Amino acid sequence: MVRIWHMTEMMNAKDSFGPLAALIGEWKGDKGMDIAPEPDGEEHSPYFETITVEPIGDAINAEEQTLAVLSYKQVVHRKSNGEVFHHQTGYWYFERKTGEILYSLLIPRAVAVLARGKASGTEDKIVLSVSADAADKNYGIIESNFMANKASTRSFVMDVTVEDNTMTYKMNTGLHIYGKDFAHTDENTLVRSL
Ligand code: HEM
Repeated sequence: MVRIWHMTEMMNAKDSFGPLAALIGEWKGDKGMDIAPEPDGEEHSPYFETITVEPIGDAINAEEQTLAVLSYKQVVHRKSNGEVFHHQTGYWYFERKTGEILYSLLIPRAVAVLARGKASGTEDKIVLSVSADAADKNYGIIESNFMANKASTRSFVMDVTVEDNTMTYKMNTGLHIYGKDFAHTDENTLVRSL
């Protein structure tokens, strides 16, 4: 469960997590739109969701690299019937030394992504942009045999904007499915509830 942060903790969070500090909290949004592949075209599904982002702390790699890490969970419900139709977990990473941002995701379809990017914008309006490509050895995509053969993820691009207590994101997941390339897109606007 996420708890409410005191002002001093928020200031410490900015020191530790840099631009990612703006993400900490519980976010809810009901203006989501998913465009997903169908054998004969595409399906548009309006959705609502909760994204929970919690601070984990520092991960120190090879006694050299320090990554400030947040974990997140995203639970997405189809508006038409309330069912959970997408579930995602992973981490946001910030390297204070270089300013690099990383984003990982795992989904129940047996697909994993490690995306890389950067933060831009201002202190009041933070933009996080990350991407991964199947051809990239490090910032790429891992998927099961089945998915590689039948519904392969080839690329992933996401922009997240946080302004005060509002978060907006746009994702474009490049798929190869049903014999063709397909831009599987998701976007939503969420409000911080905790
Ligand atoms: C809010 C985020 C997302 C929602 C609501 C969502 C929803 C959906 C839906 C409804 C389908 C069609 C399923 C079907 O027809 O059986 C689908 C397919 C797929 N999604 Fe997503 N998705 C999201 C994000 C992602 C992400 C981030 C990835 C991977 C990086 C991903 C990978 C896939 C793949 C590989 C398929 C093809 C499998 C299939 O259609 O059977 N999705 N998604």
